[in-house]
Amino acid sequence: MSSRASFIFLCLFSFLISFTAYGQDPVLSHVCSDRTTYTRNSTYSNNLQTILSSLSSSNASYSTGFQNATAGQNTDMVTGLFLCRGDLSPEDCRTCVAFSVDEILIRCPSETQAVLYSDECMLRYSNKNILSTLTTDRGVMIPSTRNVPPNQLDRFIDLVLSTMNQAANEAASNYRKFDARKVSWTAQQTLYGLVQCTPDLTRQDCLRCLQLSINQLPTDKIGGRVLYPSCSSRYELYAFYNETAIGRPSR
Ligand SMILES: *[C@@H]1O[C@H](CO)[C@@H](O)[C@H](O)[C@H]1NC(C)=O
Ligand SMILES: *[C@@H]1O[C@H](CO)[C@@H](O)[C@H](O)[C@H]1NC(C)=O
Ligand SMILES: *[C@@H]1O[C@H](CO)[C@@H](O)[C@H](O)[C@H]1NC(C)=O
Ligand SMILES: *[C@@H]1O[C@H](CO)[C@@H](O)[C@H](O)[C@H]1NC(C)=O
Repeated sequence: MSSRASFIFLCLFSFLISFTAYGQDPVLSHVCSDRTTYTRNSTYSNNLQTILSSLSSSNASYSTGFQNATAGQNTDMVTGLFLCRGDLSPEDCRTCVAFSVDEILIRCPSETQAVLYSDECMLRYSNKNILSTLTTDRGVMIPSTRNVPPNQLDRFIDLVLSTMNQAANEAASNYRKFDARKVSWTAQQTLYGLVQCTPDLTRQDCLRCLQLSINQLPTDKIGGRVLYPSCSSRYELYAFYNETAIGRPSR
Protein backbone atom coordinates (compact mmCIF):
# COMPACT_ATOMS: atom_id res chain seq x y z
CA MET A 1 0.00 0.00 0.00
CA SER A 2 1.41 3.35 -1.00
CA SER A 3 1.50 6.52 1.03
CA ARG A 4 -1.26 7.70 -1.25
CA ALA A 5 -3.39 4.83 -0.04
CA SER A 6 -2.78 5.92 3.55
CA PHE A 7 -3.78 9.41 2.62
CA ILE A 8 -6.95 8.13 1.03
CA PHE A 9 -7.63 6.18 4.17
CA LEU A 10 -7.33 9.35 6.26
CA CYS A 11 -9.82 11.13 4.03
CA LEU A 12 -12.24 8.25 4.21
CA PHE A 13 -13.98 9.08 7.44
CA SER A 14 -14.97 12.57 6.49
CA PHE A 15 -16.39 11.26 3.22
CA LEU A 16 -18.27 8.48 4.93
CA ILE A 17 -19.77 10.89 7.40
CA SER A 18 -20.73 13.49 4.83
CA PHE A 19 -22.25 10.98 2.40
CA THR A 20 -24.15 8.81 4.82
CA ALA A 21 -25.55 11.97 6.40
CA TYR A 22 -27.32 12.69 3.12
CA GLY A 23 -28.36 9.10 2.64
CA GLN A 24 -26.26 8.75 -0.50
CA ASP A 25 -23.94 5.99 -1.45
CA PRO A 26 -20.77 6.46 0.56
CA VAL A 27 -17.67 6.91 -1.55
CA LEU A 28 -14.85 4.90 -0.07
CA SER A 29 -12.05 6.21 -2.22
CA HIS A 30 -11.10 7.54 -5.60
CA VAL A 31 -7.87 7.47 -7.55
CA CYS A 32 -7.16 9.87 -10.42
CA SER A 33 -4.20 9.27 -12.69
CA ASP A 34 -1.59 11.88 -11.88
CA ARG A 35 0.21 11.77 -15.24
CA THR A 36 -2.17 12.61 -18.06
CA THR A 37 -4.98 15.08 -18.31
CA TYR A 38 -7.42 16.19 -20.98
CA THR A 39 -8.80 19.63 -21.69
CA ARG A 40 -12.36 20.74 -21.55
CA ASN A 41 -14.31 20.34 -24.79
CA SER A 42 -11.57 18.16 -26.31
CA THR A 43 -12.40 15.02 -28.29
CA TYR A 44 -11.35 12.98 -25.27
CA SER A 45 -13.72 14.93 -23.06
CA ASN A 46 -16.61 14.35 -25.45
CA ASN A 47 -15.82 10.65 -25.71
CA LEU A 48 -15.72 10.43 -21.95
CA GLN A 49 -19.15 12.06 -21.74
CA THR A 50 -20.40 9.53 -24.29
CA ILE A 51 -19.26 6.49 -22.34
CA LEU A 52 -20.48 7.90 -19.02
CA SER A 53 -23.94 8.51 -20.53
CA SER A 54 -23.93 5.02 -21.97
CA LEU A 55 -22.91 3.44 -18.65
CA SER A 56 -25.62 5.32 -16.77
CA SER A 57 -28.31 4.90 -19.44
CA SER A 58 -31.48 2.95 -18.71
CA ASN A 59 -30.41 0.16 -21.10
CA ALA A 60 -27.13 -0.62 -19.28
CA SER A 61 -27.01 -4.11 -17.79
CA TYR A 62 -27.76 -3.39 -14.14
CA SER A 63 -29.17 -6.88 -13.74
CA THR A 64 -25.76 -8.47 -14.38
CA GLY A 65 -24.02 -5.67 -12.47
CA PHE A 66 -21.31 -5.24 -15.08
CA GLN A 67 -21.15 -3.08 -18.18
CA ASN A 68 -18.42 -1.68 -20.39
CA ALA A 69 -18.47 1.12 -22.96
CA THR A 70 -15.95 2.47 -25.45
CA ALA A 71 -15.90 5.62 -27.56
CA GLY A 72 -13.43 7.24 -29.95
CA GLN A 73 -10.25 6.06 -31.60
CA ASN A 74 -6.50 5.99 -31.07
CA THR A 75 -5.32 8.47 -28.42
CA ASP A 76 -8.86 9.80 -27.98
CA MET A 77 -10.33 6.40 -27.19
CA VAL A 78 -11.98 6.06 -23.78
CA THR A 79 -12.97 2.76 -22.23
CA GLY A 80 -15.10 2.65 -19.11
CA LEU A 81 -16.85 0.08 -16.97
CA PHE A 82 -18.85 -0.34 -13.81
CA LEU A 83 -19.15 -3.28 -11.45
CA CYS A 84 -21.89 -3.49 -8.84
CA ARG A 85 -21.57 -5.62 -5.72
CA GLY A 86 -22.95 -9.05 -6.52
CA ASP A 87 -25.89 -8.94 -4.11
CA LEU A 88 -27.34 -5.65 -5.38
CA SER A 89 -30.72 -5.36 -7.05
CA PRO A 90 -30.71 -3.80 -10.55
CA GLU A 91 -32.34 -0.68 -9.06
CA ASP A 92 -29.67 -0.24 -6.40
CA CYS A 93 -26.96 -0.91 -8.99
CA ARG A 94 -28.37 1.79 -11.23
CA THR A 95 -28.58 4.27 -8.35
CA CYS A 96 -24.96 3.62 -7.43
CA VAL A 97 -23.74 4.00 -11.03
CA ALA A 98 -25.71 7.21 -11.59
CA PHE A 99 -24.28 8.67 -8.41
CA SER A 100 -20.74 7.55 -9.33
CA VAL A 101 -20.90 9.06 -12.84
CA ASP A 102 -21.52 12.50 -11.33
CA GLU A 103 -19.09 12.02 -8.50
CA ILE A 104 -16.13 10.77 -10.54
CA LEU A 105 -16.04 13.97 -12.63
CA ILE A 106 -16.14 16.10 -9.50
CA ARG A 107 -13.26 14.18 -7.95
CA CYS A 108 -11.21 13.66 -11.14
CA PRO A 109 -12.19 16.67 -13.28
CA SER A 110 -9.43 16.49 -15.91
CA GLU A 111 -7.54 13.20 -15.56
CA THR A 112 -7.67 10.69 -18.41
CA GLN A 113 -7.85 7.75 -15.99
CA ALA A 114 -9.97 7.44 -12.87
CA VAL A 115 -11.42 4.88 -10.48
CA LEU A 116 -14.17 5.57 -7.95
CA TYR A 117 -14.84 2.99 -5.27
CA SER A 118 -18.04 3.22 -3.31
CA ASP A 119 -19.72 0.83 -0.97
CA GLU A 120 -21.92 -0.78 -3.60
CA CYS A 121 -20.16 -0.26 -6.93
CA MET A 122 -16.96 0.67 -8.71
CA LEU A 123 -16.73 2.96 -11.75
CA ARG A 124 -13.62 3.27 -13.83
CA TYR A 125 -12.38 4.72 -17.12
CA SER A 126 -9.10 4.98 -18.97
CA ASN A 127 -7.43 5.93 -22.23
CA LYS A 128 -5.88 2.42 -22.17
CA ASN A 129 -7.73 -0.75 -22.95
CA ILE A 130 -8.80 -1.90 -19.51
CA LEU A 131 -11.08 -4.73 -20.63
CA SER A 132 -10.02 -8.28 -19.82
CA THR A 133 -6.85 -6.87 -18.29
CA LEU A 134 -5.72 -7.60 -14.75
CA THR A 135 -4.98 -4.37 -12.85
CA THR A 136 -3.89 -4.45 -9.25
CA ASP A 137 -2.23 -1.06 -8.91
CA ARG A 138 -4.11 1.85 -7.33
CA GLY A 139 -5.29 -0.46 -4.59
CA VAL A 140 -6.93 0.78 -1.43
CA MET A 141 -6.97 -1.02 1.91
CA ILE A 142 -9.62 -0.07 4.44
CA PRO A 143 -9.32 -1.64 7.88
CA SER A 144 -11.86 -1.69 10.67
CA THR A 145 -10.65 0.34 13.63
CA ARG A 146 -11.14 -2.51 16.10
CA ASN A 147 -8.43 -5.06 16.83
CA VAL A 148 -9.00 -8.77 17.26
CA PRO A 149 -8.21 -9.72 20.87
CA PRO A 150 -4.58 -10.98 20.90
CA ASN A 151 -5.47 -14.34 22.44
CA GLN A 152 -7.85 -15.07 19.54
CA LEU A 153 -5.69 -13.67 16.76
CA ASP A 154 -4.19 -16.88 15.35
CA ARG A 155 -7.52 -18.61 15.13
CA PHE A 156 -9.17 -15.51 13.65
CA ILE A 157 -6.53 -15.11 10.93
CA ASP A 158 -6.84 -18.81 10.04
CA LEU A 159 -10.61 -18.53 9.75
CA VAL A 160 -10.52 -15.33 7.66
CA LEU A 161 -7.89 -16.65 5.28
CA SER A 162 -9.47 -20.08 4.81
CA THR A 163 -12.93 -18.58 4.29
CA MET A 164 -11.70 -15.91 1.88
CA ASN A 165 -9.54 -18.33 -0.10
CA GLN A 166 -12.46 -20.74 -0.49
CA ALA A 167 -14.60 -17.83 -1.65
CA ALA A 168 -11.87 -16.78 -4.11
CA ASN A 169 -11.67 -20.26 -5.64
CA GLU A 170 -15.42 -20.38 -6.07
CA ALA A 171 -15.65 -16.82 -7.48
CA ALA A 172 -12.84 -17.36 -10.00
CA SER A 173 -14.65 -20.43 -11.34
CA ASN A 174 -18.12 -18.96 -11.73
CA TYR A 175 -19.23 -16.74 -14.58
CA ARG A 176 -20.24 -13.85 -12.32
CA LYS A 177 -16.83 -13.94 -10.65
CA PHE A 178 -18.55 -13.44 -7.30
CA ASP A 179 -18.90 -15.27 -4.01
CA ALA A 180 -20.24 -14.37 -0.58
CA ARG A 181 -20.38 -16.69 2.40
CA LYS A 182 -20.49 -16.85 6.17
CA VAL A 183 -19.04 -19.10 8.86
CA SER A 184 -19.39 -19.22 12.64
CA TRP A 185 -16.66 -17.42 14.52
CA THR A 186 -17.98 -17.84 18.07
CA ALA A 187 -21.31 -19.11 19.37
CA GLN A 188 -22.64 -15.55 19.03
CA GLN A 189 -20.61 -14.17 16.16
CA THR A 190 -20.52 -14.90 12.45
CA LEU A 191 -17.82 -14.02 9.95
CA TYR A 192 -19.08 -12.73 6.60
CA GLY A 193 -16.85 -12.67 3.54
CA LEU A 194 -17.32 -11.40 0.00
CA VAL A 195 -15.04 -11.47 -3.03
CA GLN A 196 -15.63 -10.26 -6.57
CA CYS A 197 -13.70 -9.73 -9.80
CA THR A 198 -14.81 -7.89 -12.90
CA PRO A 199 -16.34 -10.75 -14.92
CA ASP A 200 -14.27 -9.94 -18.03
CA LEU A 201 -11.24 -11.52 -16.32
CA THR A 202 -10.14 -15.08 -16.92
CA ARG A 203 -10.35 -17.60 -14.09
CA GLN A 204 -6.57 -17.36 -13.61
CA ASP A 205 -6.43 -13.55 -13.54
CA CYS A 206 -9.39 -13.37 -11.17
CA LEU A 207 -7.82 -15.87 -8.79
CA ARG A 208 -4.48 -14.06 -8.92
CA CYS A 209 -6.16 -10.73 -8.17
CA LEU A 210 -8.18 -12.15 -5.28
CA GLN A 211 -5.17 -13.87 -3.78
CA LEU A 212 -3.24 -10.58 -3.87
CA SER A 213 -6.14 -8.76 -2.27
CA ILE A 214 -6.67 -11.41 0.42
CA ASN A 215 -2.98 -11.25 1.30
CA GLN A 216 -3.38 -7.49 1.92
CA LEU A 217 -6.39 -7.83 4.21
CA PRO A 218 -5.82 -6.36 7.69
CA THR A 219 -6.53 -9.65 9.48
CA ASP A 220 -5.56 -8.29 12.91
CA LYS A 221 -8.73 -6.15 12.66
CA ILE A 222 -12.26 -7.46 13.04
CA GLY A 223 -13.09 -6.33 9.50
CA GLY A 224 -11.49 -4.93 6.40
CA ARG A 225 -11.45 -4.64 2.66
CA VAL A 226 -9.00 -4.37 -0.18
CA LEU A 227 -10.16 -2.71 -3.37
CA TYR A 228 -8.39 -3.06 -6.70
CA PRO A 229 -9.64 -1.98 -10.13
CA SER A 230 -9.95 -5.67 -11.08
CA CYS A 231 -11.23 -7.23 -7.85
CA SER A 232 -12.11 -6.67 -4.23
CA SER A 233 -12.35 -8.65 -1.03
CA ARG A 234 -14.01 -7.87 2.28
CA TYR A 235 -14.78 -9.54 5.58
CA GLU A 236 -16.74 -8.33 8.62
CA LEU A 237 -18.32 -9.70 11.79
CA TYR A 238 -21.69 -8.43 10.59
CA ALA A 239 -23.89 -9.06 7.56
CA PHE A 240 -22.76 -6.28 5.19
CA TYR A 241 -24.35 -7.85 2.11
CA ASN A 242 -27.91 -8.95 1.43
CA GLU A 243 -27.98 -12.62 2.35
CA THR A 244 -31.36 -13.16 0.72
CA ALA A 245 -30.15 -11.76 -2.58
CA ILE A 246 -27.24 -14.16 -2.93
CA GLY A 247 -29.74 -16.97 -2.58
CA ARG A 248 -27.74 -19.50 -0.68
CA PRO A 249 -27.99 -20.85 2.83
CA SER A 250 -25.02 -20.51 5.14
CA ARG A 251 -22.20 -22.97 4.78
C1 LIG B 1 -16.62 23.29 -27.95
O1 LIG B 1 -16.26 22.83 -29.24
C2 LIG B 1 -17.20 23.15 -30.25
C3 LIG B 1 -16.76 22.47 -31.55
O2 LIG B 1 -15.38 22.55 -31.73
C4 LIG B 1 -17.32 24.68 -30.37
O3 LIG B 1 -18.27 25.00 -31.34
C5 LIG B 1 -17.74 25.25 -29.02
O4 LIG B 1 -17.76 26.65 -29.06
C6 LIG B 1 -16.78 24.79 -27.91
N1 LIG B 1 -17.31 25.21 -26.61
C7 LIG B 1 -16.55 25.73 -25.66
C8 LIG B 1 -17.23 26.08 -24.39
O5 LIG B 1 -15.35 25.94 -25.82
C1 LIG C 1 -27.98 2.48 -24.66
O1 LIG C 1 -28.62 2.99 -25.83
C2 LIG C 1 -27.99 4.16 -26.36
C3 LIG C 1 -28.87 4.67 -27.49
O2 LIG C 1 -29.20 3.63 -28.37
C4 LIG C 1 -26.57 3.81 -26.81
O3 LIG C 1 -25.94 4.96 -27.33
C5 LIG C 1 -25.80 3.32 -25.61
O4 LIG C 1 -24.49 2.92 -25.99
C6 LIG C 1 -26.51 2.13 -24.96
N1 LIG C 1 -25.81 1.81 -23.74
C7 LIG C 1 -25.52 0.56 -23.39
C8 LIG C 1 -24.79 0.40 -22.13
O5 LIG C 1 -25.83 -0.40 -24.08
C1 LIG D 1 -18.32 -5.08 -23.52
O1 LIG D 1 -19.66 -4.71 -23.82
C2 LIG D 1 -20.15 -5.29 -25.02
C3 LIG D 1 -21.51 -4.66 -25.30
O2 LIG D 1 -22.34 -4.72 -24.18
C4 LIG D 1 -20.21 -6.79 -24.88
O3 LIG D 1 -20.71 -7.40 -26.04
C5 LIG D 1 -18.81 -7.32 -24.58
O4 LIG D 1 -18.86 -8.69 -24.33
C6 LIG D 1 -18.23 -6.60 -23.37
N1 LIG D 1 -16.83 -6.97 -23.24
C7 LIG D 1 -16.36 -7.56 -22.15
C8 LIG D 1 -14.92 -7.89 -22.18
O5 LIG D 1 -17.05 -7.82 -21.17
C1 LIG E 1 -32.42 -8.32 -0.27
O1 LIG E 1 -32.67 -9.10 -1.39
C2 LIG E 1 -34.02 -9.52 -1.53
C3 LIG E 1 -34.09 -10.47 -2.71
O2 LIG E 1 -33.48 -9.94 -3.84
C4 LIG E 1 -34.91 -8.29 -1.68
O3 LIG E 1 -36.25 -8.68 -1.79
C5 LIG E 1 -34.73 -7.37 -0.48
O4 LIG E 1 -35.45 -6.18 -0.66
C6 LIG E 1 -33.25 -7.05 -0.29
N1 LIG E 1 -33.07 -6.31 0.96
C7 LIG E 1 -32.48 -5.13 1.00
C8 LIG E 1 -32.33 -4.53 2.35
O5 LIG E 1 -32.04 -4.57 0.01
